[in-house]
Parts: sequence; structure tokens; C-alpha cells
Amino acid sequence: MNVTIYLDNSATTKPHPQVIEAMASLLEENYGNPSSLHTIGQRAERVITEARRDLAGVLGVKDKEIIFTSGGTEANNMALKGVARAYGNRGRHIITSQIEHPSILEVFKELESEGLRATYLEVDGEGRITPDRLAAALEPETILVSLFHVNNEIGSINPLPELAEVLAGRGRQRPFFHVDAVQSFGKLALRPGSWGIDLLSLSAHKIHGPKGVGALYVREGLVIPPLLHGGGQERGLRSGTENVAGIGGFGLAAVLAEGEREEALPKVAELRRVFLEGLEGTDCRLNSPAGGSPYILNLSFPGFRGEVLVHALAAKGVYVSTGSACSSRAHKQSHVLESLGLSPAEVAGAIRVSFSRSNSLAEAERAGRILAEVVAELGEFMG
Ligand SMILES: Cc1ncc(COP(=O)(O)O)c(C=O)c1O
Repeated sequence: MNVTIYLDNSATTKPHPQVIEAMASLLEENYGNPSSLHTIGQRAERVITEARRDLAGVLGVKDKEIIFTSGGTEANNMALKGVARAYGNRGRHIITSQIEHPSILEVFKELESEGLRATYLEVDGEGRITPDRLAAALEPETILVSLFHVNNEIGSINPLPELAEVLAGRGRQRPFFHVDAVQSFGKLALRPGSWGIDLLSLSAHKIHGPKGVGALYVREGLVIPPLLHGGGQERGLRSGTENVAGIGGFGLAAVLAEGEREEALPKVAELRRVFLEGLEGTDCRLNSPAGGSPYILNLSFPGFRGEVLVHALAAKGVYVSTGSACSSRAHKQSHVLESLGLSPAEVAGAIRVSFSRSNSLAEAERAGRILAEVVAELGEFMG
């Protein structure tokens, strides 16, 4: 009875069969360099043009506002370093939250080492930044605010339009607003143009697309310098021969996700409910807020170690993670759960279960039951 129930979709997702098929055909048949003048090059260029149009369509923005990158990490680096370098003469203060992904927090540290001052906002009990907190942290010198849409460990959702309104209230001194939307794109409604967002980071592999591809939305009129210099691809913002198959796969994954987004949301909420039902009677604490993204469920089993639960579950074919994929390898305690004020036992005993629209109710139900069994077996073993 070999089962595989993959519930680590916030770490990465399984590529959609149509994406795999499309990418295989691109690799085989559309191998040109988009910069080449001949027809084989032009065909490759068309793939990128179409993928850009698809992404822009999903976000409701202009095609030229989409820059393809190697993923969410590069998009975050490009946005934050770009604004700091281009607008650092306007002010030297930048703001983010304490529970961002490392590809934001580590860049902030780097920018601090280059002489900028950073504020790391504390989240409220629901894991969000409230408009009041943001307003209180703003200074005349603030040039950039970077906040997540959905947190990758607990699924809390920041109220982006309200936060952007706080920034708009600064008039001519309005700081730029960057949003890491890697965990929300294709899952929740997202309208950077009308929500007052200047830069927005995306990643393909979280929405059943390929790894190593992402994009940065850069609002028209905002000029930032590139991270990589060279052949001048992507309007000079991202040199390097384009990952044609990856970009084509990303465009298709985005269209497929958007097409199913609205019906997927209640389905995933039901997966989460059914999973939790299986845990009734166990001593677990829900770390994810009630109003968060249903795709991400963070739970603590105080007295247990998260990594032991992860391995015991994997032995039974159920795949989840402790915190985020990066922190679990580094064996670091979750900075997100610590910031939420959890006790050390609750932080140590945390696991993250993350769903996808392709999981079935039967999988969720079975996985919940298996987790309850694992907790009971390990509890007995520990006496
Ligand atoms: C919130 C968030 N931002 C950024 C990233 C980095 O994206 P990528 O893996 O495409 O570099 C991730 C992925 O773990 C993420 O969850």
C-alpha cells in the first residue's frame, strides 16, 4: 500500500502535465535564440512575447511592465536593490516586516550594510501588518516599503490596498511599494495596477510551472538599474539569453492557474477543513490565522519535534515540511513563528502542510488521519 500524498506545495509544486508537454515541445522544436534575426530566433521571441502577454493579462497590467527573471529570489533582489540604488539619494530609510522570506530579509541586511536604515515591522496576532503599524513607521526619509501578500510559513494575508493607501497619503513623498506575491499569485486575486503597488515578485514553480523562472512587475515610469549587465535582454533590465521553454511554461502555468483560481479557493478550503477533522483529539495548536490563505496550514505539536514528524510522515507517504523549505535545511528555528510569539516548544514542534488545487479530498482526509496516527505512535514511544 504505497501512497504519495504531496502536501508541500508552498515549497514547490508538481509541474502541470500540460506545462511539461508544452515545455518539451519548446525545447525540441523552438530552440532558437530570441535575439537572433532569422525566423528560428523570431519564433523563440514570439514565445516570450506571448508569455509576457499572458502574465500581464492575468495581473491586469501592461505587457511591458513584466520582466522575466530566474525566479522569485531574483525578482525580490532586483526590486529592492534597484529601488535602493536608483532612489537612495531621496532618502535612506526602508521598511519591511519581520516575517518575510529570506530573499527579502537578507537583501535588507545587505542594504543596511550599504548604509541604509531598515525597520522590520512586527506583525499583529494574525500575522499581518496593519495600516496603523505601517503609518507609524513611515519617516520623511522612507523610500521603500516591501511586504508579502501571503506569508509562506503561516499563510497570513496582508491587506495590500489599505497599506498602499497609507503610502499614497504621503503625497509627493510616497515611498515605493514592493510586494512579494510568490505565494499568492494564481491563488488569490491580485491587481497590482489598481492596488497601488509599484513592484511585484512572482515565481513559476509555486503554480505548477517550472523552477528557475519568475517575473518582476515594474510599474511603468519606475526606472531601476539591472542586477545583471550584458546583452540587454528584457529591456536592458535582465541580460542573459532567455529561458524560452521555462518562460513559455510559466505563461501557460499562469493562465491555467488563473482559469481555475476562483473555483480552487473553496476547494482548497475544504481540503484544509477535512485534513483538520482528522486531527480532532490530538493536542495540536493552529498557528495559521483563521482569515489566512487556505493553501497554507501551520500547526504545532508541542512536545514533538517538527522534523521528526516530517520524517515519520514521509515514511508513510505523506510529504509536508517544517516551516519553509530553506529554513528546514539550514536547521534554523523559524523566525516567522518566533515573531508570532510562540513558545520554544511550539516553534520546535511546528509543521507546515500546504495544499494545491490538484490535491483530492481523499488525500487530505487520509493525510490528516495518518498525521494523527503518527502523533499517537510517537507519543507512545516517547512515553
Ligand atoms: C514568499 C516567497 N518569496 C520568494 C521565494 C523565492 O522564490 P524562488 O524559489 O522562485 O526563488 C519563495 C520561495 O520559497 C517564497 O515562498
